Amino acid sequence: MFSLFAGFVSPQLSTTFYDNSCPSALQIIKNTVDAAVQKEKRMGASLLRLQFHDCFVQGCDGSILLDDTPTFTGEKTALPNNNSVRGFDVINTIKANVESACKQVVSCADIVAVAARDSVVALGGPYWDVLLGRRDSLTANLSQANTDLPGPQLNLSALESAFSKKNLSVNNMVALSGAHTIGQARCITFRNRIYNDTNINASFALSLRANCSTSSSNDSNLAPLDTVTSTIFDNYYYRNLLSEKGLLHSDQELYNGKSTDSQVSTYANNTANFFMNFTKAIIKMGNISPLTGTAGEIRLNCSKIN
Ligand code: HEM
Ligand SMILES: *[C@@H]1O[C@H](CO)[C@@H](O)[C@H](O)[C@H]1NC(C)=O
Ligand SMILES: *[C@@H]1O[C@H](CO)[C@@H](O)[C@H](O)[C@H]1NC(C)=O
Ligand SMILES: *[C@@H]1O[C@H](CO)[C@@H](O)[C@H](O)[C@H]1NC(C)=O
Ligand SMILES: *[C@@H]1O[C@H](CO)[C@@H](O)[C@H](O)[C@H]1NC(C)=O
Ligand SMILES: *[C@@H]1O[C@H](CO)[C@@H](O)[C@H](O)[C@H]1NC(C)=O
Ligand SMILES: *[C@@H]1O[C@H](CO)[C@@H](O)[C@H](O)[C@H]1NC(C)=O
Ligand SMILES: *[C@@H]1O[C@H](CO)[C@@H](O)[C@H](O)[C@H]1NC(C)=O
Ligand SMILES: *[C@@H]1O[C@H](CO)[C@@H](O)[C@H](O)[C@H]1NC(C)=O
Ligand SMILES: *[C@@H]1O[C@H](CO)[C@@H](O)[C@H](O)[C@H]1NC(C)=O
Ligand SMILES: *[C@@H]1O[C@H](CO)[C@@H](O)[C@H](O)[C@H]1NC(C)=O
Ligand SMILES: *[C@@H]1O[C@H](CO)[C@@H](O)[C@H](O)[C@H]1NC(C)=O
Repeated sequence: MFSLFAGFVSPQLSTTFYDNSCPSALQIIKNTVDAAVQKEKRMGASLLRLQFHDCFVQGCDGSILLDDTPTFTGEKTALPNNNSVRGFDVINTIKANVESACKQVVSCADIVAVAARDSVVALGGPYWDVLLGRRDSLTANLSQANTDLPGPQLNLSALESAFSKKNLSVNNMVALSGAHTIGQARCITFRNRIYNDTNINASFALSLRANCSTSSSNDSNLAPLDTVTSTIFDNYYYRNLLSEKGLLHSDQELYNGKSTDSQVSTYANNTANFFMNFTKAIIKMGNISPLTGTAGEIRLNCSKIN
């Protein structure tokens, strides 16, 4: 059946996109993610963050995966990404495994979206059906990565703006921030908070200073974003905020006497509500400006355009 409106309607993503063209794709991705997370639990966090950093720059198009070359500037050295985003090797391994099953069918952008879901599931979080059919970009945008990816110094209204620029609501923003229930952050991203912020639990701040001195030699030292259960996708991120134990300044902004406090309290008390709203929000994030139809390409190697 051809749609009567073909040519007028931009193709939509669909959960069944590869059912005929590459029926084993989802299982292959899951197996590779499971192996990687089993080897290093933090990898689940890194793969989740990769989808966020992909989708917020030019949409969910795999642009973050592109390497710099002498004639091409990618997004990997943007300030929020440099020495910080991880998981490229896992994405490339997934791609190689999927390519051996189905030649040039499954996009890198879709692999990123599915790997994020499988990572959340592997760490105990909710399952959702990933919409598929994204294609891969021919371009990247370093300056957009620098302007559009929110930084840890942002206040609540700046965070709201960064998400609203991507058509994500404050509600979506608070739920998506629950991703910080897993993973690690470098000292450089929370140093100012643990020495200067006043809305931080004093003993929590003190304990973090041991491994995050004011010397730049400690810039890369890591601390867990969720101080209680950093390898389990649960609602401790929100529970920590209630006791002023958010690691990033931006985290604690969500529970600092303003409009989002009530949402944080609800999620802190209701994992099912968090999981439901996180799921809705990440599906929406995955719909940001995808390339579909004949736009872009299906990369053979996620690190470079064909
Ligand atoms: C609300 C605005 C956000 C800000 C300001 C923010 C900021 C940050 C920062 C500064 C780090 C540590 C980076 C480093 O050490 O270099 C981080 C890590 C992380 N972020 Fe966010 N983030 C935000 C939203 C999100 C969203 C929406 C997701 C995913 C849905 C996400 C997932 C993660 C994960 C999983 C990590 C840990 C990564 C790892 O351990 O490799 N973040 N974030
Ligand atoms: C990225 O990090 C490298 C060190 O790994 C550093 O040499 C380079 O200056 C950084 N680039 C930017 C744009 O910050
Ligand atoms: C990159 O993004 C910036 C800021 O969003 C935009 O102004 C610019 O046109 C983009 N560059 C390209 C080449 O698309
Ligand atoms: C939030 O940060 C923005 C940008 O730095 C600033 O203009 C604004 O005044 C801040 N808002 C509040 C309520 O502090
Ligand atoms: C947000 O919605 C507006 C209006 O529908 C649209 O023009 C814009 O492209 C959307 N932006 C993103 C990033 O999806
Ligand atoms: C604390 O704030 C002061 C004043 O803004 C600043 O000079 C100092 O560098 C900050 N300290 C840290 C560790 O970030
Ligand atoms: C700060 O955290 C410590 C250790 O978890 C806890 O014992 C203390 O009650 C907290 N302080 C405040 C003011 O909440
Ligand atoms: C930086 O951190 C390490 C732990 O990784 C610590 O042993 C060292 O003393 C710290 N350096 C400074 C200058 O504080
Ligand atoms: C200190 O930082 C190092 C390097 O990132 C990290 O491996 C270690 O787990 C941290 N130690 C503590 C107590 O946070
Ligand atoms: C979760 O989403 C539902 C439906 O959109 C909404 O009614 C509810 O307020 C949300 N929960 C929180 C804590 O924002
Ligand atoms: C959590 O729920 C319990 C009972 O349902 C209630 O007594 C408590 O006040 C709630 N806590 C928060 C932080 O909302
Ligand atoms: C993919 O491309 C990158 C960047 O050009 C290259 O380093 C890598 O070896 C390629 N991988 C494969 C499997 O060809």
